[in-house]
Formats: sequence, structure tokens, C-alpha cells
Amino acid sequence: MVSHVLISKKIKDFNQSINISGDKSLSIRWALMASQAIGKSRAYNILNSDDVNNTLFSLKKLGIKVSKKKNFCEIDGKGLGTFFFKNNTVINAGNSGTFARLIMGMLSNSRKKVVIKGDKSLSNRDFERVIKPLNLFGVKIESRKKKLPIKIIGNNFLRPINYVEKKGSAQVKSCIMFAALNTFGETIIKCKKSRDHTENLFEYLKLPIKVYKNKNFDIIKIKGKRQFKAFDYKIPGDISSASFFIALTILSKNSKILLKNININQSRTGILDILKKMNVKIKLKNKLTYKGEPKADILVRSTKNLQAVNCPSNMNSRLIDELLIIFLICAKAKGISYFKNLGELRHKESDRLKIAVNFLKMIGVKVRVKSNGIKIHGNPNLELNKSYVMKNFNKDHRVFMMTCIAALTLGGSWKINDKDSINSSFPTFLSIIKKIGAKIK
Ligand code: S3P
Repeated sequence: MVSHVLISKKIKDFNQSINISGDKSLSIRWALMASQAIGKSRAYNILNSDDVNNTLFSLKKLGIKVSKKKNFCEIDGKGLGTFFFKNNTVINAGNSGTFARLIMGMLSNSRKKVVIKGDKSLSNRDFERVIKPLNLFGVKIESRKKKLPIKIIGNNFLRPINYVEKKGSAQVKSCIMFAALNTFGETIIKCKKSRDHTENLFEYLKLPIKVYKNKNFDIIKIKGKRQFKAFDYKIPGDISSASFFIALTILSKNSKILLKNININQSRTGILDILKKMNVKIKLKNKLTYKGEPKADILVRSTKNLQAVNCPSNMNSRLIDELLIIFLICAKAKGISYFKNLGELRHKESDRLKIAVNFLKMIGVKVRVKSNGIKIHGNPNLELNKSYVMKNFNKDHRVFMMTCIAALTLGGSWKINDKDSINSSFPTFLSIIKKIGAKIK
């Protein structure tokens, strides 16, 4: 089976209005929360991707009734702590760090042993970050070198914890929040800023949560063991997936795109703020708030005079999944762009900092990396005319999509491997881009 794409033509001018598939973070969170609610919950526009489907399939393995219909997904929950499964059940999280880390919090009080495993990329990622706080709750975890596969031996008498989360990881924060739901008493988390979808859902569901927001960190207080009712959710479009089309438009000539119904949660929109600093004209239309989450249509145009940017590191968590595509835009900007404290970028589906540097060098962009910072010497006249092969990127979906955007906007003749990687987060990426006019074989 062919698992690469060939691109040898730039995309022609376009003027399009498109829908982007459902947000991955919200799809996974809805499914997990619905599995613990009382009654039938429905999600509309849930993302149909491997990461989300692995979540749904795993919930079924944990005894939850899940059914997927044409227009919605339904989960029939029986309340908090009602997973029902055999001892030593194996859960396969595939490529999804979000699902693997969040479900560990939900399984914190399970009386049966459960094993979490994942694909090659996920099995190389750090799980100490969630093992540490779960141990403090009283959960026993067996692993080799704090990586998957991991065996969880839950505890029915969890104790609430006070925890300082220093990485700015929403996955760690949410894992702790889910464990706190299973615990009598009050858990307190002081956490570096990160996406706050879990907090928003807890608040919407009227769970006893208090969030105190400060400049660089938040304090979250949660009282556990409270039941909540089933809830329906219309999942908005994913800004991380939309970002590839934003970049495609900015880097193409005389083009314009309207991305409809996109989640614009402030903790996710760092890309829009950085691009505005770089001279990109972005308009938000039809703004509204839905169940605690803001959404809007995003209008973007081609940009001729892109300017380099110095990204303040307190913005990193607001654009963590968009950094690869932002680096590509910086390669076409006038001047030197700077990004600092990017350690977390090395802990994604691949070491994205290393891959970005090699990629930029391959296309002739001058880059310097010093510890976890990067300097990108932009070139507004960057045009490619050689042949390039993109391989060995750990099947990282975002690396694949970034490379397609580079090929379609900078030129050259490209072979890009591992096209199936898009199934993790955005299986319709290639079909949408072809509809816009891209010639991809
Ligand atoms: C996610 C959080 C981020 C992000 C990931 C999704 C989430 O990871 O990179 O794609 O849904 O909570 P970290 O929490 O590790 O930063």
C-alpha cells in the first residue's frame, strides 16, 4: 500500500469557506466525562480520528455503552466510578497522549488491575509526569522506566492532594482533576497555564470546582465524589487542525479562507496573536460562547509583508501544537524570529524541535538552536526548486501536515512519507486540501 504523497506543484489562488473537523481535546474530554455521567449523553461533530476512536473503543472495553450513529455519538453513563471490566484488561491508547494520561486519572480508584499500552511513539513518551501525582493520591503503578505499558492498581481510599504542576501540561492537570473526582475531600492544584477545557466542562456540569486565575499560573480546587448528569455537546472545529489552512492561505498568493465554527478558547489561540504580530490580517466573525467555550469563524488572507516575531515564552502553552507550522511561516518572514523554553516541544509525538530544525535546514533556512530555544532567519524570497524526501519523523501527524503546506506553498518536488499519520487527528486533511485545489498524488 502506498503510504506517501507526491507534491510537485504549488497550490493556485483560492477563495474558500471550509469546515474543519471536531476539536480533538474536546472530543476526548466529552467521551471521558460522558462515561462518568448519569444517563445518555450525545456528541455532535465528534472528531472521527484514531485518537478519538481509540478512546471510544477503550471505554467500551471498560464496560461503557457507546454507540456511534450517523450524526452523533451516544454514551450511556451509569455515574462516577462505574467502569466494569475484567482484571488485567488491556487498553490500547494508540498514538494518543491525551487519552492515555486522562484515563489514568479516571482509573485511579478502580478495584481491578488495568494495563495501558500505546504505539511506538506513545511508548517513548514520559509518563512520570502523571505517575508522580497519582502515586500521591495512593494509586499504585507498575511500569518500566515510567513509560508505557503501565499497569494501574487503583485504590478505593484515595486521599486528596496538593500538587504543583510546573510543566504547563493540560494532560497532567486533567489527569489530576479526574483523579480528584474519584476522591473524597478537596484536591488543590497550582498549575502553570495550559488549555482549560477540563475546567470549563467541570464548571458547565456544576461540579464543585473553583478556579483562581493568575498571570502565569492557576489555582484549582476540586471536591470529589459528586455525581453529575448526562450532557449533550456540539464539538466545534479544531484550531490546531485549522492552523494548517491558516498557514496555507498566508503563504499562498491572492488567496482567502473562511474557517467556520472554530473553537477559539483563549488558552488555544496563541497562533492568532503571534500571526497578528507578524502582520497577518485575521478577522473573527460570528463569535459566540457555547457551554463555556468561545467559538467563531476565522477569516484569513494571503500576507505579503510577513515580519519576524519574538515569541514570549509565557505564550508557549497557548500555541504548543501550532509551533511547527508557525516556524514554517517564520521561514518566509522578514527578519529573525525567536522562540524560547521549548522543552515541552521535545515531548510530543516526536521531538518536534529537532525535527523542525532538520526540516528548516533541509529547505535552506538558517536556524540556530541553543538548549531549548530556536532562532529562525526568515527569507521573504524563499522559493524551492529541488527534490525533497521527508521521512523518519516518527509518524507525527503534525509534521506530515506541516510538510505538505511547505510543499504546496514554497515549491520543489516532494515525496512525503507516512500519510496515514493524519488519522490521529485530522483524517480529512488531504481530501479538504485537494478540494481547495492542491494537486497531490
Ligand atoms: C492536550 C494537551 C497538550 C497538547 C495535546 C493535547 C490536551 O499536551 O499538546 O495535543 O488535550 O490536553 P500537554 O498537556 O502535554 O502539553
